[in-house]
Amino acid sequence: MIKKGIILAGGRGTRMSPLTKAVNKQLLPIYDKPLIFYPLSILMLANIKDILIIVNKGQLNQYKKILPNGKKLGIKISYLEQDKPRGLPDAFVIGEKFIDKKNVAMILGDNFFYAQNLSSKLIENTKLKKGAKIVLYKVPKPELYGVAKINKKNKILSIKEKPKKYFSDLAITGLYFFDNKVVNFAKKLKPSKRGEVEIVDLLNIYKSKNQLKADIIGRGGAWLDTGSIEDFYKTSAFVSAIENRQGFKIACLEEISLNKKWINKKQVLEAIKFYGKCDYSNYLKKLIT
Ligand code: TTP
Repeated sequence: MIKKGIILAGGRGTRMSPLTKAVNKQLLPIYDKPLIFYPLSILMLANIKDILIIVNKGQLNQYKKILPNGKKLGIKISYLEQDKPRGLPDAFVIGEKFIDKKNVAMILGDNFFYAQNLSSKLIENTKLKKGAKIVLYKVPKPELYGVAKINKKNKILSIKEKPKKYFSDLAITGLYFFDNKVVNFAKKLKPSKRGEVEIVDLLNIYKSKNQLKADIIGRGGAWLDTGSIEDFYKTSAFVSAIENRQGFKIACLEEISLNKKWINKKQVLEAIKFYGKCDYSNYLKKLIT
């Protein structure tokens, strides 16, 4: 079982400037909560309680105000800084000590997932013992993403970064499950032309060893990569529509912890006090009455 997870939550946030000049992208709102709540909820739903959040140098205090050490959620959150955005696989170099001898999950701080049976799918993926697993999602514009071609058994045949010519419409989302070798593989990567180490290069190492598998989020689910202002508003509209229609919240962290019995009613009351009078607190109140 994978019990450790990393959220990569640094980055330049260039596309969202000037919003990201003073505040990190992952702390901006997706409807009624900061973006970081959504990827964190995904790791929690996967029963991952030991979480490393990698943030930009100098932005640690911003994060700690809203997510201190995880104790209030019955989990453990630690932080490390990335001095500059060296690329996604850098997470495994920075996180080497945290990962230790274990296998690890990684989610990008700006990734949003919503799907039926997501929890059981996630837990299934944490059973990975050897190799790597990526999560794919069918998109209308595959040329904007890293994409993967698979066979009937969900085995990956090849992967390409932003292919100009049609190749497959299955985008590689920002949720990955790796065995412990990822640390050594990540350390060996050389930066690409754009000056970053590339996740596709890391995945290709696993592929060349015949150890890269795929999980697919089907038609009923949604994956949104909230990198641009337009994506931010689309995702907010999606969350607002679901929450107001169905009456439950997506990525309410205390609700997930309460359901998993990682916290009790008393801790929910403390959370209500911490958030103050707001819609989120009203929702928490309803959960315990
Ligand atoms: P990107 O979307 O590639 O970059 P970004 O968020 O900085 O945005 P922009 O392209 O507009 O400048 O990053 C994906 C996620 O990974 C995002 O949540 C930031 C994070 N990230 C890091 O934390 N460190 C890194 O070295 C990189 C490349 C990304």
